[in-house]
Amino acid sequence: METFARTFPDGFLWGAATASYQIEGAAAEDGRAPSIWDTFSHAPGNTANGDTGDVACDHYHRVAEDVALMRDLGLDAYRFSVAWPRIHPEGDGPANPLGVGFYDRLVDELLRAGIQPVVTLYHWDLPQALDDRGGWLNRDVAEWFADYAATVVGALGDRVRHWTTLNEPWCASVLSYAIGEHAPGHRDTLESMVAAHHLMLAHGTAVPVIREHCPGAEVSITLNPTHVWGPEDGDDLDADAVRRADNALNGLFFGPIFHGAYPDGFLDDTAHLTDHAYVRDGDLAAISAPLDNLGVNNYFPTRVRAARAGEDRTNPMPGCDGVVAEPPHPPLTAMGWEVSPESHRLIVERSARESGLPIYVTENGSAWDDTVAADGAVHDPERVAYLRSHLAALADAVDDGLDLRGYFAWSLLDNFEWAYGYDKRFGIVHVDYSTQRRTVKDSGREYARIIAMQPGR
Ligand code: FCB
Repeated sequence: METFARTFPDGFLWGAATASYQIEGAAAEDGRAPSIWDTFSHAPGNTANGDTGDVACDHYHRVAEDVALMRDLGLDAYRFSVAWPRIHPEGDGPANPLGVGFYDRLVDELLRAGIQPVVTLYHWDLPQALDDRGGWLNRDVAEWFADYAATVVGALGDRVRHWTTLNEPWCASVLSYAIGEHAPGHRDTLESMVAAHHLMLAHGTAVPVIREHCPGAEVSITLNPTHVWGPEDGDDLDADAVRRADNALNGLFFGPIFHGAYPDGFLDDTAHLTDHAYVRDGDLAAISAPLDNLGVNNYFPTRVRAARAGEDRTNPMPGCDGVVAEPPHPPLTAMGWEVSPESHRLIVERSARESGLPIYVTENGSAWDDTVAADGAVHDPERVAYLRSHLAALADAVDDGLDLRGYFAWSLLDNFEWAYGYDKRFGIVHVDYSTQRRTVKDSGREYARIIAMQPGR
């Protein structure tokens, strides 16, 4: 393979990302209470092999080792999330000093290693106590979230500048409340719309709270937009299917957050389900609070077409009846996800246009069936190729004017991949779950090499 030699602008942040429930383990330690993911993963049939995050990568006990690994890779930044049920075990009760203390030490360890912390407040582990009170379906969640944000930013805001409210509200609403694949595992399209609205309201309510507790904060949200393709020889019905899918996947969040309105057609397309009374006066103004940058997580494009006469028209995504998912085009990753640097570039560029903000790619990566070879290394040429091709697509976009400020590989470590459990490995570092031994994969070495050859190092 040729050497990858593309360079990125000065000050570009090179990072890796993780999420609390996927790596921490220590699920019942130091006062942490269960989250909806503890409940969901412990219920039979929800995850591959019945896997849970009880132990995960045991990162809670291995912070020093894991930060040293990041330093050896040459990372500038580490994107992690805070577990709400460690901070407020009951959701809205008093703060738990032991939970706060864990992130306090993590931040100090990172800063000592010269690594910038990039903190996400919510990566899907809602305290179970709050779900018992309706969770994201209860409008009060916006205040609960803002109070939680005040605790975390109040504790870490003297050292952390990069704050992200939510990770992928699409997954926390549509995938969790309509499709049922993620916690809390509901299958109700209207609920997913209400949850999406309350997630955005929580985001918008927290933005000024973050600014108040951290003057000079860079405040952000991370979305997971995906480029939607229809059939090449599609007709008007197919074009309408693309529009509906794009609204449910992208516009549902781009609209309220960046344009202060739900996207064209979305309210009409869902009028048979609701009069949208959950959208109250003032909500859209709160939701569209100005941000400093936008985080984009993207792995694959989406392909759809219109249902034909006699075909099943039901689709759980809001406003998507009559939209049929088309199979991805090869090559596919171990997740069955289409590898498409082209669509990655397209959706990142669109995210910049929709938001008018600088962009960070806060997650991108791929799962493959990795094994530790006889030589003790993990040879993952497909992940190396994926990394290079996606970075090259981004470099082209930057050459054409995209304001891209950083890239975070998903993930630093193999980890608990939600409904797929430990079967799917996304790490640039391999984890042997029986020994917790970490082994930098070839892709991790390649990433370190790319970082090291950037100008100014
Ligand atoms: C994203 C999630 C992240 C991880 C990757 C593969 O949707 O944010 O936690 O599961 O996908």
